[in-house]
Amino acid sequence: MYLGIKICFLLAAWSVNARPGSHSTGKAVYVLTNNANNAVIGLPIYKNGLLGEGQVTTTGGTGQNGLNSTQDPAGPDSLFSQGAVAVAGQYVFAVNPGSNTISMLKPDHANPSKLTLVGQPALIPGDFPNSVAASSKSRLVCVGTTGTRAGVSCTTYGHGGLGKMDELRLFELNQSTPPIGPPNTLSHVFFSADESALFVAVKGDGSTNNLGFFSVFPVQYGCTSDTAASLVREDVRSSLNGTGLLFGATISPDSGRVFATDPGFGVAVLEVERHTHKAALVSRVVVPGQAAICWAAYSAETDSVFVTDVAVNRLVEIDANDGSILLTANLPNDDPGLIDLQVVGTHVYALSPGNGTTEAAITVFDIGKEQQVQHVSLAKFGANRNAMGMAYIDL
Ligand SMILES: *[C@@H]1O[C@H](CO)[C@@H](O)[C@H](O)[C@H]1NC(C)=O
Ligand SMILES: *[C@@H]1O[C@H](CO)[C@@H](O)[C@H](O)[C@H]1NC(C)=O
Ligand SMILES: *[C@@H]1O[C@H](CO)[C@@H](O)[C@H](O)[C@H]1NC(C)=O
Ligand SMILES: *[C@@H]1O[C@H](CO)[C@@H](O)[C@H](O)[C@H]1NC(C)=O
Repeated sequence: MYLGIKICFLLAAWSVNARPGSHSTGKAVYVLTNNANNAVIGLPIYKNGLLGEGQVTTTGGTGQNGLNSTQDPAGPDSLFSQGAVAVAGQYVFAVNPGSNTISMLKPDHANPSKLTLVGQPALIPGDFPNSVAASSKSRLVCVGTTGTRAGVSCTTYGHGGLGKMDELRLFELNQSTPPIGPPNTLSHVFFSADESALFVAVKGDGSTNNLGFFSVFPVQYGCTSDTAASLVREDVRSSLNGTGLLFGATISPDSGRVFATDPGFGVAVLEVERHTHKAALVSRVVVPGQAAICWAAYSAETDSVFVTDVAVNRLVEIDANDGSILLTANLPNDDPGLIDLQVVGTHVYALSPGNGTTEAAITVFDIGKEQQVQHVSLAKFGANRNAMGMAYIDL
């Protein structure tokens, strides 16, 4: 049991959503360039699901690539992570791996692809932040770092910006800055469906001696609804036999089950026990022909999970109830593979950073038609094989 002292303090008053302009659907997707002069690209989602003209906003921080096994800058998948950008309520959060900061940005209500930086980027007491999670219920934003000082640090946010990041909850990964991966790196931080806990997926080193782990940190809510929440200091860790490289994940909100990718085979279905916070492996979904399935997104319309593979240019859809493979959609474009993705209504938005030869692009896939309906190059926004992350807002 956690015996911390609850410290309650008032947060600034919270503003309610205003209605976006009539010409806007109030929806947009966001991608991080992760270039030296780091920036977020926002693209509006039109009523028909297609993406409109994008806009670039610098984060005030610095991007950086992890190193691959031959110590060259990694890319595509420059951060070995899912979730380099996150949305909570009416705010967007982005990691700056090269300056150890996170940025908070606010979308324009009439045009949510247009962002404005809120306050200053917050300094993280860790190295190489590569994944961020934000919760509007707890008003917490938590970041995972995977460099020399690896772990999790959180802060509260309000309309004035980010608070001071709390002390790092250390993960002993014995990494360098920048980290050498993908093995032995933090993969993804994300909140449980009811926002009562933060989940963290950490890859093993690829050997049977180090399977990595799935970490659960309960959220401590404040004394009243107006007081600040915090994340407990100590996590509950589970290493799951049958997994070894837990990567990006998504949650089925009805069952609370976690669909965590593992490039060793496909997707691990996990259940987190509510009281002990222990994670258990429910099943393994072995995806034929997979090379490196590392990113996942839940689709509410179809109660299914879409996963992407950085080295195979296709979307694979998995039933969220029984784990069966519902669809394998090969894509009619030249992308080498796909990374971060989101499902908004009946469309999947998936990022391909490209490989230096092919351009960074977003594939828009219509789930009903089972086909690609748009392929948008991000090259003119300065995106290249460093690009990471995919978040969406629905104001
Ligand atoms: C590491 O990256 C370099 C440069 O992109 C590439 O030539 C090399 O093949 C990569 N090594 C591995 C093991 O992927
Ligand atoms: C930590 O990393 C260093 C160098 O990267 C290596 O020499 C050392 O054996 C590692 N220690 C552990 C406990 O893995
Ligand atoms: C892990 O699973 C394998 C087979 O799937 C089994 O042989 C092995 O004993 C298990 N290890 C542990 C520690 O449970
Ligand atoms: C990049 O991907 C394209 C298309 O998948 C492929 O033809 C090309 O050889 C790749 N280039 C590199 C440098 O890997």
